[in-house]
Amino acid sequence: MRLSDCHNIDDFRKLAKARLPWPVFDYIDGAADDELTKARNTSAFDDVDLVPDVLAGVGAIDTSCTIMGRKSALPLMLSPTALQRAFHRDGERAVAKAADKFGVWFGISSLATHSIEEIAGLTEGPKLFQLYVHKDKGLNASMIERCQQAGFDALALTVDTIVSGKRERCLRSGFTTPPRFTPSALWSYATRPRWTLDYVFGPKFRLPNLDGHVQEGSGKAVSIQDYFNTMLDTGMDWDTAARIRQDWGGTFALKGVMSAADARRAVEIGADAIWISNHGGRQLDGSRAPFDQLREIVDAVGGEIEIILDGGVRRGTHALKSVAAGATAASGGRLYLYALAAAGQEGVERALLILKEEIERGMRLMGVTSVDQLTPDRLRWR
Ligand code: FNR
Ligand code: LAC
Repeated sequence: MRLSDCHNIDDFRKLAKARLPWPVFDYIDGAADDELTKARNTSAFDDVDLVPDVLAGVGAIDTSCTIMGRKSALPLMLSPTALQRAFHRDGERAVAKAADKFGVWFGISSLATHSIEEIAGLTEGPKLFQLYVHKDKGLNASMIERCQQAGFDALALTVDTIVSGKRERCLRSGFTTPPRFTPSALWSYATRPRWTLDYVFGPKFRLPNLDGHVQEGSGKAVSIQDYFNTMLDTGMDWDTAARIRQDWGGTFALKGVMSAADARRAVEIGADAIWISNHGGRQLDGSRAPFDQLREIVDAVGGEIEIILDGGVRRGTHALKSVAAGATAASGGRLYLYALAAAGQEGVERALLILKEEIERGMRLMGVTSVDQLTPDRLRWR
């Protein structure tokens, strides 16, 4: 299988599986407990049908929209994800450049393998920083300051990761950051020499946004579970979120809001956006799917705050359904991570091209010429 054989996100997943050692693939692909929430995140879209209009004159269409004050070429964003150097030698650089080329938002994680400053220097396009609130308050302040200096467009505070979800694939594989060669996976590393040689001899794995504060995860190998459970601030509450919004002073989003009541509190603390998200099913298994929860949240706070639907998105029509149901945009992690792992920047560009074409085709077949024509009356819930 080659990159040119990839025609949808599942194809990239297959290629990534063939190219990555299994502990690394399972870190991306896996989720918590029985992975029920991860599966439902995608299948939730199947419970809603699109109702097309015909003869609508769709020669020229405009797929762009405004998200958090910046123009986006598509109603689609690339969610922040950690450790990208472990998936491909170019890591976050590849994703930043692909996002820039397609004119869409992307985000880097607190646990990114390239620095805030380096990523800011790569693109003028819309970019956000995802903050994990650490026990080390100096580290939190330093990350916020660095993002201000570097001119990031938004800060997304992740609120669903107060402890780690129970990720059983990672417990079995012993996956750590940085990845280590464990005996049970040696064969897998040996049979993927491209990844393995690149990991050993290519750019060094680092978590530069933690420099000067935290050794764990870069200088010292730990599991993601141990990292979360020992380094992050479990006491974080609404006052913390309000304070961070103030310290940051710019466009501010809460990532991981699931209840209508919390969406209301997000409005009250002055957040600009919420990401309805269960972290791709990696945290609380059994949590409701973002798309299932979207209408309830739109009813509660629609029009008062931007709503980003995050999780399970694998098709252009998933973005169209999200927008029609009231979201500003859809967003996803694995939709570009499989492609990054499969083929770096070229892979991410191909995934974006496929999704862009699916969105364009879907809009034409729906008989709409602009994103704001996607309204709830174009959907039927089964
Ligand atoms: C994530 N996600 C994530 N979220 C976050 O706030 N900070 C992070 O560092 C990460 N890291 C991360 C790594 C990997 C490998 C994955 C798959 C996900 C969650 C991510 O931002 C997003 O919420 C989910 O990926 C959405 O689900 P889908 O699109 O992967 O189905
Ligand atoms: C994850 C992180 C790092 O989901 O957020 O693995």
